[in-house]
This record gives sequence, C-alpha cells and structure tokens, in this order.
Amino acid sequence: MISRMKRTPDKLAQLCLVALLGLAITGCKKPDGGSGSAGDGAIKIGEYASLTGNEAAFGRSSHRGTELAIEELNKAGGVLGKKLQLLTEDDQSKEGEASTVVTKLISRDNVVAVLGEVASGRSLEAGPICQQNKVPMVSPSSTNPRVTQVGDYIFRVCFLDSFQGDALARFAINTLKAKKIAIMSDVAAPYSVGLAEFFRQSFTKRGGTVVSEQKYSSRDTDFNAQLTAVKTTAPDAIFVPGYYQEAGLIIRQARQLGINVPLFGGDGWEAPELVQIAKESAEGCYYTTHYSPETQTPEVQNFVKAYRAKNNNETPDAMAALGYDSALVLVDAMKRAGSTEGPKVRDALAATRDFKGVTGLTTIDQNRDATKPATVITIKGGKFEYVDTIQPEK
Ligand code: PHE
Repeated sequence: MISRMKRTPDKLAQLCLVALLGLAITGCKKPDGGSGSAGDGAIKIGEYASLTGNEAAFGRSSHRGTELAIEELNKAGGVLGKKLQLLTEDDQSKEGEASTVVTKLISRDNVVAVLGEVASGRSLEAGPICQQNKVPMVSPSSTNPRVTQVGDYIFRVCFLDSFQGDALARFAINTLKAKKIAIMSDVAAPYSVGLAEFFRQSFTKRGGTVVSEQKYSSRDTDFNAQLTAVKTTAPDAIFVPGYYQEAGLIIRQARQLGINVPLFGGDGWEAPELVQIAKESAEGCYYTTHYSPETQTPEVQNFVKAYRAKNNNETPDAMAALGYDSALVLVDAMKRAGSTEGPKVRDALAATRDFKGVTGLTTIDQNRDATKPATVITIKGGKFEYVDTIQPEK
C-alpha cells in the first residue's frame, strides 16, 4: 500500500516532465528558431538526426556543425537571393523513426533537400523516401557503400567503409604489427556488419589471420561471454567495428577480464562518451575517423574557433565537421544550379569537384560518393590524440 501511494506522485512528476520535455522539443523545432530565422520565402532545407537516444552524441554534433554552416551562409547573404532555413527533426536513434520524420519534412514542410543521417542504418531507411520524391539527400557521414546505391538522388561527403576497412587493416599490420586479430561486430547495425567484412577481407588478403569473430547487438551491455571466447584465442589486438556506447563497455569489460592487447575501431567510436564509459581502460586504444581538430589549415582552425564560440567552448568532432561540410556542399550545388529544383540540384551535386571544406576536398564520383583520407586517433591521458593520416591507395 505504502509503496503504491509513494509511486503515484512519482508517476505524476514523470508525466509532467514528459509533457514539459515535449513542449521544449516542439519549441526548439519551430521553423523560425535558431539558424532558421529566415522568414517567408526562405529556402527550406530538412535535416534528420539522432538528437536523443542511443547515438545522441552523433546527431547532436552533426546538427551543430550543420547549424553553424547555415548560419554563416545566411550571414554572407544566403543563396540565390534568399535566406536558408534549416528544419531539423529528431529520429531518436530509433528504427522506423527516420522514415517517419523524413516523410514529414518532404510532404508537410516541402523541403527542397535533406541532410542526414550519420548512422548508415538510418540513411538506408530514409534514403528511398528522398529518392522517390526526387529530393536530393546528402549524408554527412554514413560510410556503408549501400547508402548511395539507393538511387541517383542520394549523395555523401565522407569516405566509404570499403576504404575505412582497408585503412584499418593496413594500420593493424603496419603500426600494431598484429598478425592475429579477433573481431566483435554489432549484427544490428549495417555499418558494423559492413565494416567488419571489409576489414576481414583486407586483413586476410594482406596476410593476417582472423582468429575469432564474435557478435553482439546494439544496446547489449554484457560482453563477457564473447570476450571470454576471444581471450582463449590470444589475439594480438581486437577490432570492434561498432558505435561508442557498446564499444566503451567492451573496452572496459575486456580489461576487467585481464585482456591487455589494444582494441581498435572505426569512426563509430568518435564520441567523448567512449572515454567516459571505458575510463582508463581506453588508454592506448585506437580508431579511425574523418578529421582532426588539430589540423593547422585556416579552414579547420576557423571552423574550430567559430564552433567553440557558439557551443560552450566544445571542440567539434568529425560528425560536426562533416555536418558542416554537407551543408556547404549542398548550398554550393544550389548556387551552381541557379535553382532549388530537385533534378537541377541533383545534377549540380553530381558535378561537385574539389570543393574545399573542413574535411578536405570533396569530389563527387560516378557513384555519388566522396574519397577522403582517414585520420587515426589514439586515447592518451583520457584525451583523443592525432596519430596518423592514411591516404586512399591510387
Ligand atoms: N560512419 C558511421 C555509419 O555509417 C557513422 C559515423 C560517422 C560515426 C562519423 C561517427 C563519425 O554509421
């Protein structure tokens, strides 16, 4: 009885909180808020991102980068004589939600183009909707090759996992001097499944042996069974092509089991949460990503400065940089097209050559993909540190 009575006010409080949060979120989404303050006749650009949920760090970073780009473009006068208005939808890192919000952006808001998503699984989900409606979509950072195979309206401004997998294999052999590798991949994420496979092909072709292949699923929290199996095979290093939540836990649990070899991953590790979860266990681990804020070019340093000024002195990560570049590349295409009509913007996007952004030069190839180098990062003293740049092979 007592516990029941106690619970009621809690429930009420929870309900109020949910209602308040709902209000806060719809408040933020008001088309005229933030970077969207553009008024009538503005060019509407849609964005979908995981602003909440399991991969919230990705969506938030990417969104902040995109927002900064739109703001700067508007300050410089907009494009085609108009201001830009960014309409952002949160897909909550949830399956099914990406297609719902992108449908809304296209049919309710009439956006002329869509920016998103970070995670390949969600780009694969919503891409077909953009394609059917002839609304160009530019993914800032989805690396699975299948993303742009959806159709001729789907583009990306980052490298592919076929390259990232090979770069990681070269890194494992040349820098880690690893001959035997264990792989732990997330069967629920197309990104993880793809990157594991590209790495395996490349690593074995280059003479390495994969001694154990373990599976898990997004949102799992206990990896002891897989790690115990990995330990018996005594690998030189462990490859974890997944996202930061699970990777952080895997790193920590590996150390608790007395596994002391390096763990390494791909761009899915790029979030401060990785170190917050893994703590000192993350020391000496490595991952590949798309950019480093330490790069001493004016493009990168101006971007870092402007982003910090706007976001509590936070340093922009790769998602922020690619979110920023995705907006610049799209708007540059509109400028060259002299129009915001889907087919014309599509053609101009496809003709993008050597566009200078914060993640280097973007050239869109015949598959609507970009080719860029990979940056290797290590964790040292709890911080991310630049190690190396791996160039695509000619
Ligand atoms: N490349 C990842 C994917 O395709 C997403 C990602 C991009 C994660 C950039 C971190 C940094 O799912």
